[in-house]
Amino acid sequence: MKRIFSGVQPTGNLHLGNYLGAIRNFVPLQDEYDCIYCVVDLHAITVWQDPAVLKANTREVAAAYLAAGIDPKRCIIFNQSQVAAHAELAWIFNCVARLGWLNRMTQFKEKAGKHRENASVGLYAYPSLMAADILAYKATHVPVGEDQKQHLELTRDIAQKFNSDFGVAYFPLLEPLILGTATRVMSLRDGTKKMSKSDPSDYSRITMTDDADAIAKKFRKATSDAELLPGPEVLDDSGAVPEAIRQARPEAYNLLAIYAALADKPMADVLTEFAGAQFSKFKGALSDLAVARLGPIGAEMKRLSDDPGAVDAVLRDGAQRARAIAEPILAEVYDIVGFLRP
Ligand code: TYM
Repeated sequence: MKRIFSGVQPTGNLHLGNYLGAIRNFVPLQDEYDCIYCVVDLHAITVWQDPAVLKANTREVAAAYLAAGIDPKRCIIFNQSQVAAHAELAWIFNCVARLGWLNRMTQFKEKAGKHRENASVGLYAYPSLMAADILAYKATHVPVGEDQKQHLELTRDIAQKFNSDFGVAYFPLLEPLILGTATRVMSLRDGTKKMSKSDPSDYSRITMTDDADAIAKKFRKATSDAELLPGPEVLDDSGAVPEAIRQARPEAYNLLAIYAALADKPMADVLTEFAGAQFSKFKGALSDLAVARLGPIGAEMKRLSDDPGAVDAVLRDGAQRARAIAEPILAEVYDIVGFLRP
């Protein structure tokens, strides 16, 4: 059976990268797979979260799922802390994963920065909780942005080691689904940095609740370069922008990739349309497109923020359905590991 699992952290400032790299791709998958979409609040507290804000942000991610078009009847939408199996399985995986594996995780290095000694133990063990999220449901496919690839490889390593340590063929080896043309959306201020929730500059990102004025202003101020836009001749045979070309004009290619993703068009079409254009013209078209795509989603998110009871009901129902899948799997794992449950 094919089962999808994915998650988004409720750490505020949901942005265009989260939308194009992940949330938007969750929607069509519900027609094909059994889908579970989680708001990963246990992951969020690996760095400090104000408790009242965490609650609001948890509802905001759930609202983003709903507003983007995920159907809570066909899919399971819930927040992680409501299903104890995640934390319980994570402990077992902490005992399967090796220190050397976690030491290689680039996200930990980036997030801990120079103050590694001061980072939480949870931040270090973040990837084994992520493996638990996925494997508590024996999910087979995981849609994410490019930055999560290394974590998914670690999940495969954990599944494989568990199976071989205990001599079972229990956990499936997942397939990452890194979909679309904007799998790594970059900051609007610096095309070499990923667009992120934690960038101190609001102008670095478009958020899912930005209004038309904010979107237009942020794209107008977005860093660009002095040249005209390139044409489709820069593309390689597969229709992709070669790495060296992209690196020479990171801001230009980031904006073009955002346009292609929002327009749902191949890069070649976008380059043909804007070949030789000035940034001012292109940025105007990009703002209009982003407003058309994000406007209705942001409006629905705002409507849902006035109705927390409706969002909470979705999370409660989702958690109940999630527990019904995860608890029997955890019971089997406990038996495999040798925990006595008289
Ligand atoms: P989070 O909240 O950081 O990101 C949520 C999703 O958004 C994608 N993403 C991006 N995609 C393109 N460009 C960007 N600039 C960008 N920034 C973020 C992320 O790749 C992710 O898909 N560890 C996960 C949450 C998680 C999870 C899981 C995911 C916890 N358990 C199990 C899948 C399966 C994360 O960092 O979320």
